[in-house]
Amino acid sequence: MIIYASRTGNVRNVVSKLKGKSMELSEELLLSEPYLLITYTDGLGDIPAKVARFLEQNGNYCKGVVVSGNSNFGHTVFGAAGEKIAAKYHVPLVRKLDLRGNQTDYDAIQTFYEMRVIA
Ligand SMILES: Cc1cc2nc3c(=O)[nH]c(=O)nc-3n(C[C@H](O)[C@H](O)[C@H](O)COP(=O)(O)O)c2cc1C
Repeated sequence: MIIYASRTGNVRNVVSKLKGKSMELSEELLLSEPYLLITYTDGLGDIPAKVARFLEQNGNYCKGVVVSGNSNFGHTVFGAAGEKIAAKYHVPLVRKLDLRGNQTDYDAIQTFYEMRVIA
């Protein structure tokens, strides 16, 4: 399963490039299967609040995180939500995307998903 959060559509677009079952995250969602998390970055390098709340309930099934950010924010906070999630939940930061990323990113994400999430 691919679970994602998207506010302005970039992450949603990335998910549309991937093959696999996907679902937009909601705070009430309670999962019982492994998933890859794809999220944007908020504030100044922050985990979006609804993603943080979702992870409090479902962090144990998270197998990896992909983050989208905007490199114009500067390297210290670019995609920093991904590093924070990876550190807190002890999962790999699979890829950091500048906005929608590119085909090389989608290929790497797809490979991780098939080898480490649904395998
Ligand atoms: C209020 C706000 C704060 C943001 N803060 C950051 C940030 O600290 N670091 C970063 O890399 N990107 C930041 N971004 C950029 C978004 O993470 C980026 O545009 C992402 O692709 C949005 O994904 P979405 O279109 O799926 O919502 C911010 C965007 C907004 C609107």
